[in-house]
Amino acid sequence: MILRFYRSFPGFWAPALLITLATLMPTHSRADAILAQDFLDFDAQEAQLGRLLFYDKILSGNQNISCATCHHHSLHGADGISLGIGEGGTGLGPDRTPGEGTHRIAERVPRNAPALWNLGHSEVREMFHDGRVERIGAGYVAFKTPAKEYTPAGLNSLLAAQALFPISSPTEMAGHPDENPVSAAFAERIDLGWAMLADRVREIPEYQRLFKATYPDVHDPDDITIVEIVNAIAAFIGTEWQSHDSPYDKWLTEGTPLSPEAERGRQLFFGDAGCSGCHNGPRFTDQNFYAVGIPQFGPGRPFGEDTMPHDLGRMETTRNPEDAYKFRTPSLRNVALTAPYGHNGA
Ligand code: HEC
Ligand code: HEC
Repeated sequence: MILRFYRSFPGFWAPALLITLATLMPTHSRADAILAQDFLDFDAQEAQLGRLLFYDKILSGNQNISCATCHHHSLHGADGISLGIGEGGTGLGPDRTPGEGTHRIAERVPRNAPALWNLGHSEVREMFHDGRVERIGAGYVAFKTPAKEYTPAGLNSLLAAQALFPISSPTEMAGHPDENPVSAAFAERIDLGWAMLADRVREIPEYQRLFKATYPDVHDPDDITIVEIVNAIAAFIGTEWQSHDSPYDKWLTEGTPLSPEAERGRQLFFGDAGCSGCHNGPRFTDQNFYAVGIPQFGPGRPFGEDTMPHDLGRMETTRNPEDAYKFRTPSLRNVALTAPYGHNGA
């Protein structure tokens, strides 16, 4: 098709050849750099409020775990273990244990907690290893999430849409339905759980003051909803975990040479090793899904009637058998800091 088009316009042959050669070259260009202006523009005050919420156990059913437990600053935004240990566990990172007595966890979180680097980059299109929270449509903010029609309006970003889910998950933060009213509400209908969590937050005078100061539409405590809560958390994650000052960035933007070993790796990565076929663009991800054969490990995610301990990945969202065991190409930014690897840390 393209060749036929160019043949009928002979003057276009030369540029076409150059463009083709350029795309075949195993080198990179400035276009792949991450720059400060590539990030969503979050409000600094909103991010400060989000920082408090991110570290606040009040958002968990049994008030025993916060987002930071699995995405900790001291562990580069992750937890340093293969499968997360959710509510009921004790300790942090590799020292975290399943807890004791009646509160001991029944089941590990079936997937690895990803680090949070560069998720505020404006190109990010999907969240979670299987991309089940997605930004859809162009030029406006619309999200496809497992909450379907209960997904609230007014979310400021994909990160805000994502933050609606860890709080509702029994193994991560909510706890089991017979343990507390929040989790019982989530089990009944997801938006009922969100409303109960917002009730908890709006009872605290310091939060009342901060939400009023941050959001012009919040005049009294009743105006605080789950939307403001997740928007604040999103502002925090999006501004806090930015990384674009590595030696590779300096190579991209200023041409500063890499070490000889890293330069050889770069050439392999973009050349014979074929990594950049999937790990490309500013975040080293094409944001597509592939079954690369990471072995099953842990409890998996039961699917419908199927109780096999496996994880069908992308197929859970699309229901297309061709998507079985496919997972998102992860970003490789700061990957040296965020082991273990793969959707289940295997
Ligand atoms: C018990 C551990 C745990 C807690 C607590 C937790 N997370 Fe996570 N987080 C995970 C795991 C595991 C995943 C991957 C889940 C998946 O892909 O199905 C994840 C995924 C994410 C992602 C998606 C990252 C990406 O690259 O797609 C974001 C963002 C995130 N969590 C933010 C939060 C926020 C905000 C909170 C608090 C409201 C939170 N997490 C609480 C373990 C946790
Ligand atoms: C066909 C697409 C594809 C190619 C080619 C590819 N990867 Fe990946 N890579 C993936 C996917 C998909 C995952 C996640 C798999 C999972 O979680 O089950 C992944 C995971 C990774 C991870 C783990 C990252 C993390 O945070 O967990 C690293 C590191 C990685 N790849 C490096 C490479 C290197 C190096 C090459 C070249 C030798 C390469 N990849 C080639 C698709 C690809």
